Amino acid sequence: MTKSPLLELEKVTKSFGGLIAVRNIDFQIDRNEIVGLVGPNGAGKSTLLKIINRFYKQDSGSIRFEGEDISRLNPHEVCKMGISGTTQIAQAFPDMTAIENVAIGVLFGKLGRTSVNEAKKKAAEVLRFVEFSENKMETLVKNLNIAELRRVQLAKALATNPKLLLLDEVTTGLGHIEGEKAIELIRKIRKSGITILMVEHIMKIIMGICDRVIVLNHGEKIAEGTPEEVVNNEAVIRSYLGESSDCLK
Ligand SMILES: Nc1ncnc2c1ncn2[C@@H]1O[C@H](COP(=O)(O)OP(=O)(O)OP(=O)(O)O)[C@@H](O)[C@H]1O
Ligand SMILES: [Mg+2]
Repeated sequence: MTKSPLLELEKVTKSFGGLIAVRNIDFQIDRNEIVGLVGPNGAGKSTLLKIINRFYKQDSGSIRFEGEDISRLNPHEVCKMGISGTTQIAQAFPDMTAIENVAIGVLFGKLGRTSVNEAKKKAAEVLRFVEFSENKMETLVKNLNIAELRRVQLAKALATNPKLLLLDEVTTGLGHIEGEKAIELIRKIRKSGITILMVEHIMKIIMGICDRVIVLNHGEKIAEGTPEEVVNNEAVIRSYLGESSDCLK
């Protein structure tokens, strides 16, 4: 018998009022893949990630994780099963330190009972894994810059021991060097055995890092394939790539 994919979406639809943000989406993600989710602004990318992590409930359709139906579960339940991620707007508790923020991830994750001290120890380990400065671990998050904040966010997600990591524009707002470092980090995360579904606007990053790409437009999946297949797809060029022809450079 073949193993089920890590994640399977079937006919997933979600509306906000009269607006259909995500329509009839089907796709699968296999273990240890890096899959890119791309499309123009408002295409439904963030909404789809929030349906997978159960922050939003779909109107119809089903979602399975490791063969189990998670269509009716809550965020904390799927987090314990191994789904976590980062949000498009970097969020953290501003009046807590970097290490405290990540320790919350440890406590929230599927590690079971852990003391606060143990959680902080594990948090420090994860912050080191994401190459966060040793001397800023006790800094309040409100005093960190955007690149540091994104690392804290990533560490917080990793601290829950995910099998599937959902990344929503982790390189947005970063300079070139920090962006390159973030890409290296994503490769390192995959090497550690974690599967990644990432929303990213910069096609060069998608081309360099993803095994497969899914393209959304107005809430619908318009293409899916290897990065090469997708950038040569007529519908993708028309609806997305055509709007900024320099995005492949
Ligand atoms: N909470 C919400 N309430 C109402 N409408 C929403 C909500 N979240 C998203 N939408 C709408 O759903 C559509 C899809 O939004 P979504 O944020 O998923 O797009 P996106 O592909 O992530 O875009 P971007 O690239 O700008 O981040 C948009 O029209 C958006 O305005
Ligand atoms: Mg978005």
